[in-house]
Amino acid sequence: MKKPDSITKLDWELLKEKHLKIDNKIINKINKGYPVQYLIGDVDFFDCLIKVNKHVLIPRFETELLVDKAIKVIKENFDKELRIIDFGTGSGCIAIKLAKEFKNSEVFAIDKSKKAINLSKENARINNVDISFYVSKFDKFHKKNFDILISNPPYIAKDGEISDNVKKYEPKTALFAKENGLFYYDQILNQSKKILKKRNIIFFEIGYNQKDNLTEIIKKHYPLAKIKFDKDYNKMDRFCTIYNNI
Ligand SMILES: C[S@@+](CC[C@H](N)C(=O)[O-])C[C@H]1O[C@@H](n2cnc3c(N)ncnc32)[C@H](O)[C@@H]1O
Repeated sequence: MKKPDSITKLDWELLKEKHLKIDNKIINKINKGYPVQYLIGDVDFFDCLIKVNKHVLIPRFETELLVDKAIKVIKENFDKELRIIDFGTGSGCIAIKLAKEFKNSEVFAIDKSKKAINLSKENARINNVDISFYVSKFDKFHKKNFDILISNPPYIAKDGEISDNVKKYEPKTALFAKENGLFYYDQILNQSKKILKKRNIIFFEIGYNQKDNLTEIIKKHYPLAKIKFDKDYNKMDRFCTIYNNI
């Protein structure tokens, strides 16, 4: 079949590479903006194959940058076995890559969605890593003694900029947060004080316009922390690292 004009070259290559039978039904779905990744059923995240379905956010390239940064910072600051927790794991992509990278560490991951946790468990199996998964809300998770907390929480404001197709097809609970998108950072930081060791590092993916307001929230919880922001390839502040007693 010839590439229909409505499908991007990239998506077309992906569909062919994955040997997906392309019929009119599929093309109609794509024309309506249905994500090609959900049709194919998996994506690459670093060297990990991650299954996706409509219950989880499709892992983004920015999140690879977050994890890449986290791996470097962790290696610079720790040389022992660690306890790592991923808050809002979705497909499990972040936790799985960290478990592959830090083989002797204990990796935990939580999500309030049972369907997401079911899929993330399957993804951990496929990628041959051992992770402790829990269905839990951020403020209800009480296991302790973690060195590292990493999270890509929902951070889009209710009236925030977001493409119609993302809004239509990806899970809303993975996207939106109250208080201009900042609600979960506040909640997670509050919880982090109860479950992290004194010496710890927290990594967040953030919205491009959240740096200043997030800094205020971090200072409320951790007045003495060293806070660092990093940019994505569009020179936007998209990643936040909070160092406590480091
Ligand atoms: C932006 S997605 C991130 C998914 C994945 N970590 C990634 O980076 O691709 C946020 C995830 O947080 C979960 N979530 C939302 N609110 C939550 C809450 N209050 N407690 C626990 N998980 C929550 C959603 O179900 C979703 O899977």
